[in-house]
Amino acid sequence: RIAYVNGRYVPHAEASVHIEDRGYQFADGVYEVCEVMGGRLIDEPRHLARLWRSLDELRIRHPMSEAALKVVLRETVRRNRVREGIVYLQVTRGVARRDHYFPAATVAPAVVVTSRSFDRAKNDVGAEAGVKVITVPENRWPRVDIKSVGLLPNVLVKQQAKEAGAKEAWYVDADGHVTEGGSTNAWIVSADGVLITRPAESGILRGITRSTVADMARDLQIRVEERPFTVAEAKAAKEAFMTAATAIVTPIVAIDGAPVGDGRPGKVALELRRRYHEFAH
Ligand code: PDD
Repeated sequence: RIAYVNGRYVPHAEASVHIEDRGYQFADGVYEVCEVMGGRLIDEPRHLARLWRSLDELRIRHPMSEAALKVVLRETVRRNRVREGIVYLQVTRGVARRDHYFPAATVAPAVVVTSRSFDRAKNDVGAEAGVKVITVPENRWPRVDIKSVGLLPNVLVKQQAKEAGAKEAWYVDADGHVTEGGSTNAWIVSADGVLITRPAESGILRGITRSTVADMARDLQIRVEERPFTVAEAKAAKEAFMTAATAIVTPIVAIDGAPVGDGRPGKVALELRRRYHEFAH
């Protein structure tokens, strides 16, 4: 395997960043995960737009032009011979002696890109069978709209979910509304077939898969309502599912041990999953 590290393609096993990288010391950086299908990057323009936004929000310099970054992403996918998988991109504020203040403007942002194959067939078995979620109190900082590498709260709840025999943890805010999952956006389908998902920029990451699913649903004349929903509403919903570049559309069959609908993957979720790659570009 090959990784891109600050301008060079190096063997994955030898790829390393400096111990004073601000990503390592302060989680002072951002990332993107983009799905690769048939060797193609899915929804790349939206991922790059979100990356620039995350960098701008944190006042981290753009490490290179969009055109140059696209070349690096493609080249990393190509050199790793990834047909089905993901490409991971991370940009940090760079390497400087540890100090909370931003380093001098001359310090270049550090860029790392990796790509790996993903056993989609194996993953799909889980996805088609549906997954379980648990609910946990929202405990993250308010700027979850920035795709920051500061993911410790997410790591802790995902591990908690795993130990409870579930795949994902849904964060619940002080009003009892679901915000999103530890690494996915949350959706439910009402009794009359309306898709419900929390509005972007209301305590969630604006998921790229979420945006594409919303566009696709509207295209299919399925109504989409962007509004908060409670755990009780989700448990009583006809279907529930989650979206992310790593999950596409994955049906949820249980919430805190209670079955959703008839406890089997929902028709709408499976249909959206089936059609996703015809629609995404
Ligand atoms: N996670 N919400 C959170 C907190 C996420 O970390 C992610 C993505 C999403 C879905 O966003 P998208 O559809 O753009 O992948 C929502 C990535 C996949 C990860 O951390 O691995």
